[in-house]
Amino acid sequence: MKRKMRYVFEVSEKNLETERMILRPWKNSDLHDLYAYASVIGVGEMAGWKHHKKLKDSRAVLFNFMVNKNVYAIELKSSQKVIGSIGVEKIYNNYLGYQYKKLSGRELGFVLNKDYWGQGLVAEAVAKVVEHLFESFKFDYLLCAHFKNNNQSKRVIEKLGFNYVKEISFPTLFNLQERALIYVKDNPNLVY
Ligand SMILES: CC(C)(COP(=O)(O)OP(=O)(O)OC[C@H]1O[C@@H](n2cnc3c(N)ncnc32)[C@H](O)[C@@H]1OP(=O)(O)O)[C@@H](O)C(=O)NCCC(=O)NCCS
Repeated sequence: MKRKMRYVFEVSEKNLETERMILRPWKNSDLHDLYAYASVIGVGEMAGWKHHKKLKDSRAVLFNFMVNKNVYAIELKSSQKVIGSIGVEKIYNNYLGYQYKKLSGRELGFVLNKDYWGQGLVAEAVAKVVEHLFESFKFDYLLCAHFKNNNQSKRVIEKLGFNYVKEISFPTLFNLQERALIYVKDNPNLVY
């Protein structure tokens, strides 16, 4: 059987661009912008992580982003301020079942500074990342998930054209079992 060409994913120095945003690697100088959105109570919690209580919490997260190169900074063109992030994570779970087992995919996660909600920014940014992951990295599929009561995330995932797969019970960092909904988007460019 012919082996498909695979690439190792990393947020590269070659930025992605949309009408309103630049998607790029994180820099040390983004620390205060990260803290500005990550310290707001309730925002990170919607995505399963605790809001940052001290600047040093953001510094540690920023360090990880810079070392692992798996998270885009969302920079608003009009202000050059970083207003959120898009994570591209390896998938270790088997939520999609047998037919996806041998395929390559990534899970997307996102968060936006609360001051900028409701302008369709994240869907615009994530659509660009989806296109890039399918076209340049040839991933077979991408996965998104949201907690059951997170209607905002649900709407973004729907607008991006992901397909609902199933509801699961998900262990959170807060030692709770939460219900989460899983969605998938297959690479339209790949023919099997
Ligand atoms: C999910 C999130 C990234 C959406 O970003 P966004 O750019 O505001 O998304 P949109 O502008 O497309 O709005 C999505 C939906 O949120 C709702 N919404 C918009 N503005 C809102 C506001 N200020 N307050 C509450 N809900 C709002 C609307 O239902 C909207 O759907 P609609 O476009 O059909 O009306 C953002 O809400 C966020 O950062 N949430 C916290 C982290 C999180 O939940 N991440 C996802 C983890 S799975």
